[in-house]
Amino acid sequence: MRIDIITCLPRLLDSPFSDSILKRAQQKGLVTVQVHDLREYATNKHRSIDDYAFGGGAGMVMQIEPIDNCIMALKASRTYDEIIYMSPDGNLFSQAIANELSLKKNIILLCGHYKGVDERVREHLITREISIGDYVLSGGELAAAVISDAVIRLLPGVLSDESSALTDSFQDGLVAPPVYTRPAEYKGWKVPDVLLSGHELKIESWKHEKSLERTKLKRPGLINE
Ligand code: ADE
Repeated sequence: MRIDIITCLPRLLDSPFSDSILKRAQQKGLVTVQVHDLREYATNKHRSIDDYAFGGGAGMVMQIEPIDNCIMALKASRTYDEIIYMSPDGNLFSQAIANELSLKKNIILLCGHYKGVDERVREHLITREISIGDYVLSGGELAAAVISDAVIRLLPGVLSDESSALTDSFQDGLVAPPVYTRPAEYKGWKVPDVLLSGHELKIESWKHEKSLERTKLKRPGLINE
């Protein structure tokens, strides 16, 4: 899979991809993440990528031309399955959308800033809009990192078997059960006996029961939906 991220603040995306699972996934060749500095696609002398809003109003608006130039340059090399604009008013991101995106070959994530992008970008250049929650971030970069992380960990070979994404919360419509590690007792706080019993069937049914219990408590909407 290949993820191209278009941003006017490329450095914001340095660290999420240079550590741990996302770093290893790239080293193993399972994903290519390429960050593109929008300013390099600006044609004016000052390489500015934003301007005042027509009709007035506070805040600058990202111009269509550098965005179009960048997308056209990328499209010249490959076909994209999705061109996604990160926006607080987009479709709410979910595990289901992460699963869906993990099956794509090439995607572009476009990060907005300031007051957002010229509406014609949304009308003509992108295929969908995704929000990571009902709150406004300073820009789409952190949202793009969140989406990339959720998608990349699903790619075959990225996680080892024991940390398989299939046992993640939400994958089976339930949140994950509690987990424990050594010591079996700490300050009198004990690990549930069943987990130490070695009885696989009992352990599996305990985990399922706890998942259900937790889902009802923490995410009742998942059960009623
Ligand atoms: N850009 C600003 N806020 C955002 C959000 N909540 N989700 C996605 N992109 C954003």
